[in-house]
Amino acid sequence: MNVRDSLLKAFAEAGSSYISGSALAEQLGVSRNAVWKAVKALESEGYIIDSVTAKGYRLSGQSNHLSAHLISAKVNASVIGSNIIVLDETDSTNNYAKKLTASEAPNGTVIAADRQTAGKGRMGRSFVSPSGKGLYMSVIVHPEFSIQTAPLITSAAAVATAEAIESLCKADVRIKWVNDLYINGKKIVGILTEASVDMEMRALDIAVIGIGINVRSIGDSFDAELSARATSIQDETGVALDRNELCAAVINRLDAHLAKIESREFLREYRRRELLTGNMITAQIGSETLTGKAVGIDRNANLMVETENGIVRSLSSGEANLCRVLK
Ligand code: BTN
Repeated sequence: MNVRDSLLKAFAEAGSSYISGSALAEQLGVSRNAVWKAVKALESEGYIIDSVTAKGYRLSGQSNHLSAHLISAKVNASVIGSNIIVLDETDSTNNYAKKLTASEAPNGTVIAADRQTAGKGRMGRSFVSPSGKGLYMSVIVHPEFSIQTAPLITSAAAVATAEAIESLCKADVRIKWVNDLYINGKKIVGILTEASVDMEMRALDIAVIGIGINVRSIGDSFDAELSARATSIQDETGVALDRNELCAAVINRLDAHLAKIESREFLREYRRRELLTGNMITAQIGSETLTGKAVGIDRNANLMVETENGIVRSLSSGEANLCRVLK
């Protein structure tokens, strides 16, 4: 590891504590001048480093720089996050993940980017992904569970992300079936899971869970149409979350939920947070438009909708929207 990386790792481990130049020099096995040069190199990359006489250095809480070292320092998971790749820019972290070879992308690999030039949403839509504003991450999973369990991955990721956000700021994060997260009635997170199936083995080969979180104030990054229905954590709660800490929190929660996905334990939290249940909705399933009352989420995370003639249908995918709030 070079001095710059070692210094970043030392800052990550020290958290909000200051470390003196001489302590850093000793820890890293280099001269104080080499430490000073590495501090300047980090600053030139955009990291904000607090420097106080007689105390030393620390990474400022104001730093808004994504770093694999800073994420790893807060990861406490067994599978997810074992390999973390951070990029300044990519077209889409999902695309990047899908291009990696098996040896480049062991189970649990996470790819996070500061910005995406062609972020993908569901149903062929785009996901606006400006620099410094969001956390755009993809998690590569080589599932050890049955193919029947695969559709649950996205719902487990929705619960994990909601819990991660709430662990870091005061917010009431709701889930809108199937996988959007909302605060105060506006979208803050979208999830796009892409999977490849091994037809011969009738098994899920690989799943790429793409999670896009609007973290910092949106400012003028969204057009008027998007601003009307989407928001960010900071715009709703006033809290400017550290994206590294948030990424680690998502990893930790996702690791816990995926480890016991077949127990379906996470569904309790999913149902508690789900927004459509109890309301009149319209759902678009392919070319069909269905109207009815959302009556709950079944054991496969399908949305159960009671139609006019009293028949309950289970929707496994598609898009549903509120048309009337009954509760
Ligand atoms: C949606 O809201 O329709 C889903 C949005 C998913 C966005 C994330 S950002 C990280 C990953 N990379 C992508 O291109 N898309 C997902």
